[in-house]
Amino acid sequence: MSQPLESYQDEIYLTGLTGAVPDFPADLGQLEEAASKVMAPRAYDYVAGAAGSGDTAGENLAAFRRWRIVPRMLTDVSTPAFGRTLLGTELTVPFLLAPIGVLRIAHPDGELAVARAAAAVGVPMIVSNAASTSIEDVAEANGDGQRWYQLYWPKDRAVGASFLGRAQAAGYSVLVVTLDTRTLAWRPLDLRNGYLPFLQGVGVQNFLSDPAFQAGLAMPVDDDPEAAILRWTQIFGDTSITWDDLPFLRQHWHGPIVLKGILTAADAIRAAAAGIDGVIVSNHGGRQVDGAIGALDALPAIADAVGSRIAVLFDSGIRGGADMVKALALGAQAVLLGRPYVYGLALGGEAGVRHVLRALRNEFELTMRLAGLSRLSELSPDCLQRRP
Ligand SMILES: Cc1cc2nc3c(=O)[nH]c(=O)nc-3n(C[C@H](O)[C@H](O)[C@H](O)COP(=O)(O)O)c2cc1C
Repeated sequence: MSQPLESYQDEIYLTGLTGAVPDFPADLGQLEEAASKVMAPRAYDYVAGAAGSGDTAGENLAAFRRWRIVPRMLTDVSTPAFGRTLLGTELTVPFLLAPIGVLRIAHPDGELAVARAAAAVGVPMIVSNAASTSIEDVAEANGDGQRWYQLYWPKDRAVGASFLGRAQAAGYSVLVVTLDTRTLAWRPLDLRNGYLPFLQGVGVQNFLSDPAFQAGLAMPVDDDPEAAILRWTQIFGDTSITWDDLPFLRQHWHGPIVLKGILTAADAIRAAAAGIDGVIVSNHGGRQVDGAIGALDALPAIADAVGSRIAVLFDSGIRGGADMVKALALGAQAVLLGRPYVYGLALGGEAGVRHVLRALRNEFELTMRLAGLSRLSELSPDCLQRRP
């Protein structure tokens, strides 16, 4: 059997001859439950939690169940190739790690473990502006890996410009600007726990280490950490930005720019017209607008409207290889994996993340071939059927 990508499945079965079984669930949908048993309850609630009633988080998953893959037979799948270059980034299979902040609440090695695992497995990582480790330290751990940088647009423009300069200097190739988090949503689990990691000094590391941020403080961070966090609360998000502000990004970022959190064709068309290089169709995993549409339901119209002109990526609800196939068939050029890798991190640090990435890659490849598909170009809505 020809296997162009490593076969994690073969490795597991062969190792199984010695009686060994994997340390982590093979069903990526089971990671959450396993992680819930090892994580501090409030950290688990922060990761698993969503806005309001949780309705949108549920709808993200339900949207995937409404689409079914329709396998074709007697097609040659002996030499599959699922690689793609997107915005200058080489994807061996089309997925990246979604930007997720505060990873140290899941595991003491946090972003560093994820950065090492991503580089080792060859999956690009989008590093959050709300990381619990600095831009530069994550880059160092990521080494030769491919990395993008995600910005939450701060109120202080000097700090924003400084972040963009630091990220470019540290080898981040694409800028992702997240638009759906103008402010944090009403999140009942975190409210129940009275828990916001940033206020406890986790997830503010890029700010505290930033010269422009430090310049706005009366005293050095170490002398008055509380004042530094108070300052963070004042400048974290700018709720006043509009389309007219986008030129600021071009002024300070010299590579491709992608907007994250787009849910309508109208906004995607506006982004393309503004010279933006790509959009990420996402509702932030249901963590922002309770009652919002499932992200997958937003994808086809956006892909139709702008997919031939700019990059269209997708996240919110990817839990396995079949979900990847469905999102790509509906027009995404790549998808972002979110919560599942955080659960892998919680369960086993770098090894746990490696497992999740290898499992998703192999499961995607197998699902494609078993559906009769050996090229990404063969994917289209015709590969799916919508459940009545
Ligand atoms: C704990 C947590 C923290 C997150 N932090 C960020 C962030 O810092 N920046 C960002 O753009 N998105 C952030 N997201 C959203 C993810 O990038 C992604 O959109 C979401 O996880 C997709 O939903 P899913 O994980 O259910 O598939 C976060 C999500 C979670 C679960």
